[in-house]
Amino acid sequence: MRTVLLAGSSHPALAKQVGAALQLPLGRCDIERFPDGELNIQLHEPVRGAEVFLLQSLHAPVGEHLLELALISDACQRLGASSVTAVVPYLGYARQDRRVTGKEPLGSRVVADLIAAGRVDRVVCLDLHSRAVEGCFPRPVEHADAVPLLIAHVKANLVLPAVVVSPDLGAVKRAEAFARPLGLPVAVVHKQRISGAEVKAMGVVGDVAGRHVIIVDDMISTGGTLVAAVQTVLEHGARSPVTVVASHGLFVGPAQERLAALPLARVVVTDSVPFIGKALFPLEVVSAAPALADVIRRLVASSSGN
Ligand code: R5P
Repeated sequence: MRTVLLAGSSHPALAKQVGAALQLPLGRCDIERFPDGELNIQLHEPVRGAEVFLLQSLHAPVGEHLLELALISDACQRLGASSVTAVVPYLGYARQDRRVTGKEPLGSRVVADLIAAGRVDRVVCLDLHSRAVEGCFPRPVEHADAVPLLIAHVKANLVLPAVVVSPDLGAVKRAEAFARPLGLPVAVVHKQRISGAEVKAMGVVGDVAGRHVIIVDDMISTGGTLVAAVQTVLEHGARSPVTVVASHGLFVGPAQERLAALPLARVVVTDSVPFIGKALFPLEVVSAAPALADVIRRLVASSSGN
């Protein structure tokens, strides 16, 4: 069966890297606007009978990127694709995987339903915020894992003694998965979220005194979590500067200024979300393309019976 790789407009650079890893050119798909602002999708790539992989990261503007994904997928199905797999390196709304006040929607579920509305057969996600998000999808979810790539990157410059720090209780399992292959201990910051951009740290569980700290989280958004975590570990005697590792770097709102003001050795993220402009802090970007290409390769092999 033919394999076709397509990309929405959210992250063509990553789509090209995935294509290079798979030795697949990007399929032809024009994405323009009608004068009234509606999307005008023209799929020129022949997809009849093909297994289509459609890469679209769902960062801001999330609604636009999501609609594009559903429209391109719908075009593929109508043109006779055998299957459409949405490859979503960053899944927006993944943090809304539970209701906190009881007055809000279940955002992850709504986004998962909207992706499925484009008649996507399957979804590939990279380092989901939580495994609970998978349960929101009415279609099978395949996981791509960027953690081994991030570990390999950090290992090359690891200075001992070190400790991996989870900046909140939700990221403990991720921190443990990161620390285990490096043989490092884990500490946890007790975080309380005050608003979308403000958090407060209540203390740290575990020993950070005299150690080089590697803070591991799934994402950096406004940087509020990092400010609280870095300040807390330094107050508890950790060595400065601190290393930060996250799968997704959104860097929205005050993130640039906040991170620039922190004593950071480096901030390591994948390219699941494109970084626009110049970083005011020591940013290091590891490509997620090998992890995404591996999953696609595996899916193609299993559908061709290999
Ligand atoms: C929270 O559950 C996440 O794992 C991140 O810690 C958080 O979303 C980061 O957001 P911010 O950078 O705005 O604190």
